[in-house]
Amino acid sequence: MTTTFSQGPAAKGSALVIGVVADKKGQPIAPFGASLGLMEKRGFLAKPGQILAIPGVQTKLYVGLGENGTVTVDRLRSAAALAVRNAWNETALHLDLLGLVKDKALGAQALVEGASSVLYHYSGKAPAVPTKLKSITVDTGSLKAADDAFVLGLRVAEATALVRDLVNMPPAVLTPTTFADRAVVEAEAHNFSVEVWDETRIEAERLGGLHGVSRGGLEPARLVRFEWAPAGLSKKAVAALPTLAVVGKGITFDSGGLSLKSGEGMMTMKCDMAGAATTLGLFTVLGTLAPKVRVIGFCCLSENLPGERATKPGDVHVARNGKSFEILNTDAEGRLVLADGLSLAVEEKPDAVINLATLTGAIIVALGKEITGLFSNNPEFAEQVKAASQRAGEQMWELPVYAPYRRHIDSDVADMKNIGAPGQAGSIAAALFLQEFVGSTPWVHLDIAGTAWSDAPHEFGPRGGTGASLRTLVELTRSFRKN
Ligand code: BES
Ligand code: ZN
Ligand code: ZN
Repeated sequence: MTTTFSQGPAAKGSALVIGVVADKKGQPIAPFGASLGLMEKRGFLAKPGQILAIPGVQTKLYVGLGENGTVTVDRLRSAAALAVRNAWNETALHLDLLGLVKDKALGAQALVEGASSVLYHYSGKAPAVPTKLKSITVDTGSLKAADDAFVLGLRVAEATALVRDLVNMPPAVLTPTTFADRAVVEAEAHNFSVEVWDETRIEAERLGGLHGVSRGGLEPARLVRFEWAPAGLSKKAVAALPTLAVVGKGITFDSGGLSLKSGEGMMTMKCDMAGAATTLGLFTVLGTLAPKVRVIGFCCLSENLPGERATKPGDVHVARNGKSFEILNTDAEGRLVLADGLSLAVEEKPDAVINLATLTGAIIVALGKEITGLFSNNPEFAEQVKAASQRAGEQMWELPVYAPYRRHIDSDVADMKNIGAPGQAGSIAAALFLQEFVGSTPWVHLDIAGTAWSDAPHEFGPRGGTGASLRTLVELTRSFRKN
C-alpha cells in the first residue's frame, strides 16, 4: 500500500469527507457550511450509498449515512470505502465521519478497514489505474480508545491484504512449501511461534488424510502449527487462559485429483487455501489485538493433483485420530486434510476449535457468494461466532449438522466415506464428516467456498481473494471465553 494512514488533523490540500444524516422525514440535515438547496437539487437525500462531490478550494465529499441515530459501524465502513472510490484522483483525503456513530472505537477501526480494503491491489502486478491518494487522515477526536482502534484497523487491513495476496498468487508460486516459508517470515515479524512439519514428519505423525491428498502432486505437503499467547505471562498464567484453536484448509491448487474437475471448475481453484491464509492472517493481528487468550493454529497444506501415485477412488486412508475413510471422490479432499488438522487441534484440549475451509460448491448453491455457511456442535460457541461476525459486519448463516444424515456418509469398508448422497445436502454431509474429528470439543466450521473469492470487483475491493472471515476471527478472539 502506498497510501499512508494517520489519525489526526487533515493533511494540507485534503479533500474532506463529511457524513450526512437525514431527519425522520428523509430530509438531509445539512452540516455546517453545506447548502441544503444544492443537496436537494442534486437528489442527495443522505441515504447510505449516496455521495455528493462539491469541488472547490477544498473538495468536499458528502456521504450519506441514513437516518439520524441509526448510523451503524457497518455503514461507516461502507461510507469510507465509497469515499475512497470517489477520491481516486485526490492526493489527500480526510475522513470526518466518527461524530455520528455511537461506538467510536469500532467506528474508527471500520473506517480504516473500509478505506484501505478498497486501495488493495495484488502485489504481483501494478494496478491498472493507480490512485493518486498519498495520505488518508482520520479524525478520531483524540479519543484514546479510537486511536487504539485505528492502529488495530490498520493491522487488520494489512492482514486482509496478506490473505488476498496469498489467495491471488498463482499456484506455481504459492505451494505448500512457499506458504510455510511465508508463515515463518510472518511469525518472526509479528511475534508468534511457528512449527513446520515436512512430508516425512507428516507420515511419521500418521496424518493419513493430508498425506493421501498430497500423493498425487509433486509438491510435498506441509503442516504448519502456530501459537500465540500474551507476552510477559508465566507458564502457569498462560495455562490458565482460555485456549482457542483455529484450523485452515490449505489446498494450494485443487484440480479434483483423479476425480478431475472440468476446465471451468478449476479456473479459480488456486483459492482453495483461503482458510489457511485466513488462519495465518489472524496470527499476524494478535500482537496488536492482545486478547487475554491463548491461540493455536493449524494450516493443512497440500496440492490436489492426479499424478501417478494419486489416491484412487476406492482407497481407504486413516486419519490422525484413528478413524478410517473411504475416498470415493478425490475432489472431496478438503475434509480429508482437515480431519488431521482437527484431530491435532483437539488433542491439545482447547476450549473451542474453529475451522475455515473453501469446502463445498454446495454452500454456494445454498447461500450464494456473500454469506458464509456456519456449522456447529455447540450452541454457545456458535453464538459467540455469530456475535463476532455481526460486530465484524460479515454475513454468516447457520445450517444444521443434522445427525440422521450421518447415514449419507456410511461406508461398507471404512468408518465413513468422503461423499454424501448425490445431489443432497452436500455441505451438511461435509460438516458431518468433519464432526467425526472434534470429539466433544465445542466446534464451529465455516464453509467459505462462496465468500473467499469474488468473481467481480465489489464494494471493498477488486475481483479475486476477499479476505472474508478474517474480521470475524479477530472479533471472536477478542471476546473469546470458555463456556
Ligand atoms: N474446493 C472445492 C470446493 C469449492 C467449490 C470451493 C467452488 C470454492 C468454489 C472442494 O474441494 C470440492 O471440490 N468439493 C466437492 C465435493 C464433492 C465432490 C462431494 C464439490 O463441492 O463439488
Ligand atoms: Zn475438491
Ligand atoms: Zn478443495
